[in-house]
Amino acid sequence: MGFCFLAQIMTTTVTETKAQKSERLKRALNPWEGLAEIRRFAREGFDSIPPEWIGTYFRWWGVYTQGDGAGVVGGQGGQGRALPFFMLRIRIPNGLLQSAQLRTIAKLTRLYARGTADLTVRQNIQLHWVTIEALPDVLEELWRVGLNTTGACGDVTRNITGCPVAGVDADEICDASPLALEADRMLAGNAEFYNLPRKFKLSITGCRVWCPYPEINDVGLTAIQRRVLHGKPEVGFALRVGGGLSTEPYLGAPLDAFVRWNQVLPVIKGIAELFRDSEPLREHRERARLKFLFLRHGWTPNDFQKDLERRIGFQLDPAEPEHAPADVYRDHVGIHPQKQSGYCYVGSAVLRGRITPEQMDAAADLADRFASGELRTTNMQNLLIVNVPRLRADELAQELGAIGLPVSGSPFFRGAIACSGSEFCKLAITETKTFSRWLVEELEERLPGFDQHLKLHVTGCPNSCGQHWIADIGIEGKKMKVNGQMMDAYYFCLGGAVGLHQSIARPVGYRCLATEVPEAIERLLRTYLARGDAGENLRHFFARHSDPELRDYLAGQTVDAVARDLPEGRVPSSVEG
Ligand code: HEM
Ligand code: SF4
Repeated sequence: MGFCFLAQIMTTTVTETKAQKSERLKRALNPWEGLAEIRRFAREGFDSIPPEWIGTYFRWWGVYTQGDGAGVVGGQGGQGRALPFFMLRIRIPNGLLQSAQLRTIAKLTRLYARGTADLTVRQNIQLHWVTIEALPDVLEELWRVGLNTTGACGDVTRNITGCPVAGVDADEICDASPLALEADRMLAGNAEFYNLPRKFKLSITGCRVWCPYPEINDVGLTAIQRRVLHGKPEVGFALRVGGGLSTEPYLGAPLDAFVRWNQVLPVIKGIAELFRDSEPLREHRERARLKFLFLRHGWTPNDFQKDLERRIGFQLDPAEPEHAPADVYRDHVGIHPQKQSGYCYVGSAVLRGRITPEQMDAAADLADRFASGELRTTNMQNLLIVNVPRLRADELAQELGAIGLPVSGSPFFRGAIACSGSEFCKLAITETKTFSRWLVEELEERLPGFDQHLKLHVTGCPNSCGQHWIADIGIEGKKMKVNGQMMDAYYFCLGGAVGLHQSIARPVGYRCLATEVPEAIERLLRTYLARGDAGENLRHFFARHSDPELRDYLAGQTVDAVARDLPEGRVPSSVEG
């Protein structure tokens, strides 16, 4: 009997899938209630932390372990080795940041993060090298200035993104940032929504150019106006659901809805509930996003809308025709007039998001000296200062340039995005941050004067944290064997776009060593310059050419297609960030 019981336990342990394990752990504890545990780990040291905290619960606090610098190589179970240090993601809803907050982040970066911080593609700031001993202090310092890390990672509502120039953009339909902040207050840290099937991404924007990429969020709300019979036009929102990138990219499905301003929060809550209650999504971690209701479970957008309306208890008005932005490149870099007359916002290009504490301190001081102390983070890993008097904008631009945060730059400098890569990420196949800086320098040298806007996204594995699926040129990390040695390599995806000409970048079958990437891009762009029709932009050029043609331009000769998903190393999928 004893033996049978033991055998049963062993069988149960062995047969538990990754998804079942994660569901069991989530049912057992709402990690947001575990602050006392975190304080205890800090007192007792790294070795006192149980695996369920390391592997699961910490993420609810924006915390996850850092790789050893080798990425996925050398680890086990599809992930690399971890160090006893953490990455910590600070949530910045709508990218709204005060100088005092940035100064605090700078101080924490200096004290506890070995001076390394990154602006991310969801307007967050991520620190590295944080120890468990430091964690409670770091959290408390952040709370004191109104910042937190709650739900920056984990199976919860992630940072809610919005137009970084909300409220100051001269051309916006409305300032939607109050809704983003309200939605953040409703969902972040709310016990009702601590256990979603997986991450849940929201973006709400009132701008006309859809800066925060609503198409790749689980919920994307974009402002729209409709005529009312008497009186002025009414501002509401178009609604897309189920967008997301990762290994199976999907652009959000538009619902037949005009969401009125006061319906936005109930609608968001309704979708969060719908997602939370979608039990079939909890069966596989890799397929636990809203999009899989459409991709695997036979739902249509209409089914989705019916379910949503049943939950919220009212019917949504039918959609209004949208005006999707034709050219969605908008890094906000440079000096731009605000809607408030006599004022500008000034945008710095932060090369692949890496920023030092000295730069953060200096930017905070400049925001105080020249403006109202308000800054913004963007989805293109950049930093803005808003409310700058027009007459002082040039001087501010010069000062920003002097601290290494220039307000202009080559299209390569401005368009470069990179994910965390093997420096810190356990899933990485390649190093990305140093590589992308080098790539930009090489391209600037090889193609001086190239003047097309370009989204050049580098991502260290198929998970697409660097959003290579929506880039003009998106490259995905691989390994190639050279003389028996595994070397960093990249696979090319071209022609990704959001907005009117939305399209997932096409994997064109070309792969080369990391060291050969600049040459390949130079060949491609030189062909475009030589053969592009007059006035034709890069996106049209890519759209007009077949995969084999683009592959040949990259290679400089006719080559056979290489399959994208056959990396020499294993494709990792078991850790989520
Ligand atoms: C299964 C594993 C993972 C998947 C599928 C995944 C997927 C993604 C995707 C698609 C994004 C783009 C953000 C957007 O939607 O706009 C993203 C963002 C990000 N990912 Fe991952 N990721 C994974 C694991 C990781 C890990 C292990 C790290 C560790 C370094 C990481 C770091 C980041 C960072 C820093 C961002 C910026 C987003 C933010 O601030 O919220 N990811 N991830
Ligand atoms: S794409 Fe994401 S998971 Fe992959 S290397 Fe980059 S940060 Fe890591």
